[in-house]
Amino acid sequence: MLITEGAPVSQEGTGYLYTPGIYTDTQEAAWAKVTQAVHDRGGRIFLQLWHVGRVSHTSLQPDGSAPVSASAQRAEGAFSFAIGPDGKPGQQPASMPRALLTTEIARITDDFVTAARRATRAGFDGVEIHGANSYLFEQFLNANSNQRTDRYGGSIENRMRFLLETIDAVASEIGMNRVGVRISPFGRLSGMQGYDDEAETWLAVAKALEIRQPAYVHLSDQLTIGGEAMPKGFPAQFCETFTGTLIAAGGFTQETGEQALKDGALDLIAYGKPFIANPDLVE
Ligand SMILES: Cc1cc2nc3c(=O)[nH]c(=O)nc-3n(C[C@H](O)[C@H](O)[C@H](O)COP(=O)(O)O)c2cc1C
Repeated sequence: MLITEGAPVSQEGTGYLYTPGIYTDTQEAAWAKVTQAVHDRGGRIFLQLWHVGRVSHTSLQPDGSAPVSASAQRAEGAFSFAIGPDGKPGQQPASMPRALLTTEIARITDDFVTAARRATRAGFDGVEIHGANSYLFEQFLNANSNQRTDRYGGSIENRMRFLLETIDAVASEIGMNRVGVRISPFGRLSGMQGYDDEAETWLAVAKALEIRQPAYVHLSDQLTIGGEAMPKGFPAQFCETFTGTLIAAGGFTQETGEQALKDGALDLIAYGKPFIANPDLVE
């Protein structure tokens, strides 16, 4: 089973030049060739749906405007891959974002629904909602990057609302059994910081996902991509609450992957760099 790289659901959701979106007819038609090639060889493929939020740069945004986030708080130390002052592509510090209006949030959920519809038409077996690695949904979940006072900020329930509303909306379009969700509990990439009720937040997410039973939940451990490892034992704790299909990624070898499956907390192991660097890894 393949899970694609993140596909921005809109121009606004883009944080890196040359990433393959899923918001135009041309993009949809191009992805259809990819799914066809995978299916021709008996594979399965999910499309990762992505909105980077504040990890973006004005040069990538519609009309050069500010990227959007939960709050007007810059992603310290984060980089976007964008057009620099010299007019050339390169790493650029993430721009200062603006806080989304309460009334705009449903519009972004709609962008995910439209993208999921396009993905289904393009032949994908399902979609993975990118709630991980410091991007928009994590910016809402994290109590530091989310300083909102409306129903999308403050309590755990409020901080989870945007992610859960989007999962539910996408599921009503294509079915919950075709929706995967990626999260990175205790994420520390792109300026994300710890906060008081962090473990409670992630266990509340686990509980909300247990009620919904998506196709799978995909835990992204950031140790091998410049972040920190999840607290030891957290995946085991997570799966005491979330009993559905659980995937883990982050630093696995064939041996440690096999062992983790035998230990029982995880159902599937995902490989990033070993597979990106070796397209014939499976063989
Ligand atoms: C070049 C590169 C691109 C990546 N792109 C994405 C992405 O688009 N979406 C995502 O969720 N993770 C992305 N990741 C993270 C991987 O999915 C994976 O979680 C990470 O590499 C850790 O697993 P590994 O140790 O097996 O590489 C990327 C990683 C690399 C190295």
